[in-house]
Amino acid sequence: MNPVDTQAETTPLDVERIRQDFPILRRKVRGKPLVYLDNAATSQKPQSVIDAISHHYSHTNANVHRGVHCLAEEATEAYEEVRRKVCRFIHADDPTSIVFTRNTTESINLVAHAWGRKFLAEDDEVVLTVMEHHSNLVPWQLLAKDTGCKLRFIDIDDDGHLRTDRLDEYITDKTKLVCMGHVSNALGTINSVRTIACAARAVGALVLVDGAQSAPHGPVNVETLDCDFYAYSPHKALGPMGIGVLWARRDLLEEMDPFLGGGEMIRNVTLERSTWAGVPHKFEAGTPSVADAVGLGAATDYLMDIGMENIRAHEKYIISYAMERLAELPFIRFFGPRDPVDRCGLVSFIDTDIHPHDLGTIVDQHGVAIRAGHHCAKPLMHRLGVVATARASFYIYNDRNDVDALIDSLLAARKVFGL
Ligand code: ALA
Repeated sequence: MNPVDTQAETTPLDVERIRQDFPILRRKVRGKPLVYLDNAATSQKPQSVIDAISHHYSHTNANVHRGVHCLAEEATEAYEEVRRKVCRFIHADDPTSIVFTRNTTESINLVAHAWGRKFLAEDDEVVLTVMEHHSNLVPWQLLAKDTGCKLRFIDIDDDGHLRTDRLDEYITDKTKLVCMGHVSNALGTINSVRTIACAARAVGALVLVDGAQSAPHGPVNVETLDCDFYAYSPHKALGPMGIGVLWARRDLLEEMDPFLGGGEMIRNVTLERSTWAGVPHKFEAGTPSVADAVGLGAATDYLMDIGMENIRAHEKYIISYAMERLAELPFIRFFGPRDPVDRCGLVSFIDTDIHPHDLGTIVDQHGVAIRAGHHCAKPLMHRLGVVATARASFYIYNDRNDVDALIDSLLAARKVFGL
């Protein structure tokens, strides 16, 4: 996500109009209007995405890259058109550098297997950060076990920023790869990828960016980020679950081994051996999620119509207000950067007297959906000295009245405990 200069006091979005596009926002939960603040886990879907998937199955369904009949050609064209759209969305220059996977986790596992197992050896180092989601940690632990490579971790300061002042301690001549979340799913910190990529470049290391929490929320340009791999999950960006994106520099994809073997990823097969299709097909074994790709295309259109700069501005507007309101509550302690410029549209916090799971359960009684737990970032929880936090994460259909509903439900939780 690249910085955008906007006033946090106004939003460029017409939230009321946007809300009309999301059928699920009309439902009630526990008899109350739904206040959906769990967007970092998954976003809701506009009618256009639901319709695109339904239309595909009603009119164009066929397997891709196989048949010569009309439906197969239409389905293949629809699938490949989405690859081109995703390429434009992240400002990459070559659609064949886009690999469709199942999710960010699979994208990162693909790199760990197909690049890591081929190019890393004992004594090589992979640098991660203490704030990584398990999806950008466990694959590297598995790789370290298999190859003997070592993992090192960039620490955070008290505000939840990465210690970029100490990069020369972490990134050394032994570093071959630096893997980092663009935006922390548990702190909200927007990390300075370019600063870290610059240190990685200085020692000839590659850079992988977990974009699960950045691609949905602001403009992403893989060229200006100066990374080599960028992964994200369209289901957090209005798209369906079941499809993921990996962008990688084409020369890297060319030299990597396949991840999964099977149909579609081959050039030739005999009983003894096989050769591989060109990229990206070498990495897309088996029947892909074509309808989900079509849904991803519709979601990408929806986001690009609003404008990613406008979405970033809206989230700054809403998170500024959320931080202001939470700061009014003396029993709330929140984590991560205080300045909305350094933070995306989510806030992780604890009530000093109530366990986050109790908090999550009670606010749900008021129709407010938040996430409570370790957020798949257990080492970060350990670093913060907590077992869990509550997390409210906002998106394009949330407005300041949703923040007010959250605050009211937090106050109601205090009453339940007689506090
Ligand atoms: N990664 C998702 C989250 O942070 C599931 O909730």
